[in-house]
Amino acid sequence: MTARILDGTALSASVRERLAVRAAALKARGITPCLAVILVGEDPASSVYVRNKVNACEKAGLRSLQDIYPAEVDPALVLARIAELNEDPAVHGILVQLPLPKQFDSAAVLEAIAPEKDVDGFHAENVGALMQGAPRFIPCTPYGVMEMLKSQNVTLKGAEAVIVGRSNIVGKPMAMLLLAADCTVTVCHSRTRDLKFHTRRADILVAAIGKAKMITGDMIKPGATVIDVGMNRLPAEQGGKLCGDVDFESAKEVAGLITPVPGGVGPMTITMLLANTIEAAERIL
Ligand code: GUN
Repeated sequence: MTARILDGTALSASVRERLAVRAAALKARGITPCLAVILVGEDPASSVYVRNKVNACEKAGLRSLQDIYPAEVDPALVLARIAELNEDPAVHGILVQLPLPKQFDSAAVLEAIAPEKDVDGFHAENVGALMQGAPRFIPCTPYGVMEMLKSQNVTLKGAEAVIVGRSNIVGKPMAMLLLAADCTVTVCHSRTRDLKFHTRRADILVAAIGKAKMITGDMIKPGATVIDVGMNRLPAEQGGKLCGDVDFESAKEVAGLITPVPGGVGPMTITMLLANTIEAAERIL
């Protein structure tokens, strides 16, 4: 059996069309939704992510601001800029691209963002709200994954969902969302003793590890839905291409539904960032 491909680019396009209508409605009332993005340093992957976010804003009719700092910047300068953006009524969403250089206390930076502008959903208040089942901003990647599952009517109630990866950005919020959707959730990580035992039980398998092609076909239950959150660049001697945490070639022979990399979760992450920014702007109406 060959799995159906869950095309994140196509789904993104249809969701973004609806978002553009909401952005236009806000504009007609004199409000242009605005996202402020802060990038520190020159990490190539982060630079690409930020550029994609800013471009997506423009295409959807949102305004964006970009502050780019050198890697060795004094954190106090960045905190002062966040304070300024918090006070600016024309700014609806604030995002600090992670990871930050080592002189930063990342948690303190995230806490400095006004919770009502925290479109990443990383502020402790927003994390708490999600955990309590009353989310205010859902972190963009897990939010995008839930929209992908919904778009395909994947059965969530009672399903065995296995997440590989326990990050604050993906694994943990993903677990909360799948739990709220009545899945039975298992979170695996680098210290999990028998990873394959768990992954083979999964009706829904979410790979968010950050290791190229780590999940192979033999680790997947026949017919499972496989969501690949990974975004890894292969070494030049292997072609230098982007690939996910799932070994797509072997996985697609076993899974029922699978997301590709690129063109799967990535575009949906950016789409949900636009959604959260528009939502933030609508809330102040
Ligand atoms: N770095 C990797 N993913 C993300 C994300 O979703 N938001 C931010 N701010 N940084 C990231």
